[in-house]
Amino acid sequence: MKNVKIGVVGYGNVGKGFVQALNQKTDFYRKIYQLNFFITAIVTKNNGCVYNPNGISLDELLTVNSFAELSDVERPDWNTISMIQQAETDVIVEISSTNLINGEPAVLHIREAILSGKNVVTSNKGPIALHYKMLNSLANQNNVKLGIEGTVMSGTPSLRFAKDLLFPSGITSVRGILNGTCNFILTEMEKGLSFNEALAHAQEFGYAETDPSGDIEGLDTAGKVAILSQLIFDEKQTPAEMGYEGITGITVEDIQMAKKENCRWKLIGSVKKVQNHIITSVKPEMVPLSNPLANVNGSMNAIQYETDLLGMVTLIGPGAGRMETAAALLEDLITIYK
Ligand code: HSE
Repeated sequence: MKNVKIGVVGYGNVGKGFVQALNQKTDFYRKIYQLNFFITAIVTKNNGCVYNPNGISLDELLTVNSFAELSDVERPDWNTISMIQQAETDVIVEISSTNLINGEPAVLHIREAILSGKNVVTSNKGPIALHYKMLNSLANQNNVKLGIEGTVMSGTPSLRFAKDLLFPSGITSVRGILNGTCNFILTEMEKGLSFNEALAHAQEFGYAETDPSGDIEGLDTAGKVAILSQLIFDEKQTPAEMGYEGITGITVEDIQMAKKENCRWKLIGSVKKVQNHIITSVKPEMVPLSNPLANVNGSMNAIQYETDLLGMVTLIGPGAGRMETAAALLEDLITIYK
């Protein structure tokens, strides 16, 4: 049995989902992979740090209302950087809140973890959208792994599917529905809800970001396109450089008009490489009902890879939510350690 000590940075919605998912799967991973994961440290921006080098009880974490109620932990005076440097950990799970403008402070956290010789697993889009190429080459230089599956389509393995499985067939273009909040809103508007009512539901269900403007204005999708561009085409283009349009201009009338033309509005993010030039796009498109993307509704996401050898391959699955994102973090952990 191999023990793996995890340090967690950030303890919001995804952090709680991660603890719940890990608790649910711990015995399974012991049995199937002979891997024994435990969380030794959790550091937060506002609620300090808790630490137990032998593992913090996941059962207890799931029942307490605050870290103050935890019984068997030390409470060192560590900020994130000192936790990364000083706690006994093999891997850092970086799930602090995302920032698609400059990626901080997560870029700093990930760099520090890599330079400290730790593997890193993250679902944080900001640092990966803006600096994946730099961070991944730093990880390679330092012989550690950087897991990013949760940054696009949460636990639906869109990135590993492309990079590990489809890549040899020659991926020529990628397009998809990459934001659950927008797809949910468009679906609910078709059923008769107003934009604001639908957005309120998306927030209630935990799909939307804390500030949902990035979702509805297309920035979140642009961040995911930036990740796909770096991972698949080795080209960096920031959301600001690519430009993006969200769904705030789509009216109920637009939706009805699309229906009459056997189409549905979808917020589509895409990237392709043509003669060494990267071409990206993030905007609402009227997709014909004959395309599988048009029939992906609610908070579901989908991605279509066009390949040289295999033609078009479509992957459909959840793209947002706390357990769905936690699933991606576990997929990365298992991939690194199995
Ligand atoms: N707010 C994002 C969405 C979460 O709605 O898709 C997952 O990245």
